Amino acid sequence: MIKENFLNKLHSWYSLNKRQLPFRETNDPYFIWLSEIILQQTRVNQGLPYYYKFTQFFPTVFDLAKATEEDVLNAWQGLGYYSRARNLHFTAKYVVNELNGKFPVSYSELIKLKGIGDYTASAISSFSSKEVVPVLDGNVYRFIGRLYGIATPINTPKAIKEFKLILNKLIDVDNPDIFNQAIIEFGALYCKPISPDCDNCIFADNCFAFQSKKVTEFPVKIKKKKSIDRFLSFYAIIDNGSIYLEKRTGNAIWKNLYEFPNHESKDDFENEILPENLISSVEIDSVSKGYKHLLSHQNIYAKLFVCSTKNGFEEEKKWIKIRTSEIENYPIHRLMEKMIEGFDIS
Ligand code: ADE
Repeated sequence: MIKENFLNKLHSWYSLNKRQLPFRETNDPYFIWLSEIILQQTRVNQGLPYYYKFTQFFPTVFDLAKATEEDVLNAWQGLGYYSRARNLHFTAKYVVNELNGKFPVSYSELIKLKGIGDYTASAISSFSSKEVVPVLDGNVYRFIGRLYGIATPINTPKAIKEFKLILNKLIDVDNPDIFNQAIIEFGALYCKPISPDCDNCIFADNCFAFQSKKVTEFPVKIKKKKSIDRFLSFYAIIDNGSIYLEKRTGNAIWKNLYEFPNHESKDDFENEILPENLISSVEIDSVSKGYKHLLSHQNIYAKLFVCSTKNGFEEEKKWIKIRTSEIENYPIHRLMEKMIEGFDIS
């Protein structure tokens, strides 16, 4: 497709159809960075309240740097994948301590920062300083993958090179910021994953996937490894209006988040209703429905057992005792949120 033709169509579509988004009204790299990290976790509509929260709680990189990890995790709560929030905090401190609080705007400086990969470095540098680097996110892979009928699976390293080659030829060198926003927006709003309106698409005449009636086959992906199943029992131990939490340790999921004392079973919940450490000290009053919580490589099956204490109950060292109403002061993971929403533990 002729470049000029492509750019004219894309830019006029964008100017008519773009969403008014607060992070598009700024060229401050700090705000753009916040928005892009949040939007890696969720869609624009769900991400906007988080963007407002972060920019209000932490209006500058100095505010974010001096916040406690707990404050940052609390603000992030509900987005999942908490290592992103930890990286956000780490990078804010790095920018303050090592770069005098000046948030970088060039791709080569940005890519060195923790939690910033190729996509985010391209987005921040093009949006904040008009650096001519194309962005490649899921929306762009889909749009370009269909338009050019690219057979290389997008979840392989080879794909980045191949897609970038095309994008580097297409990019509007005078307006790389608008080009990048527009190409993301077209993928997000028009060239959608399911049932795109191809009959009315401005690029239909040039679209390989549409012309060859293979829209559902692009972009090409290779299937991921099967996720593992895990079975977790959580115990809400209620003791006179108080409840126990513990902080998850280790380096795997939910690190440093708070949760009810819990126990992992090998296959199902059947045989192990109460683990050994609780068997003589608590009794089960009620059991929740089963929860299925999907993470990127794990299917977590969980149940919440609401328990009361028996004579001789002793709390464990790693537990902290709080009033039930205080739970909201602690950063908890999404599964905990779901269990609390679904169950009366007051
Ligand atoms: N998703 C990620 N970044 C975005 C942006 N800048 N605009 C719209 N959607 C996005």
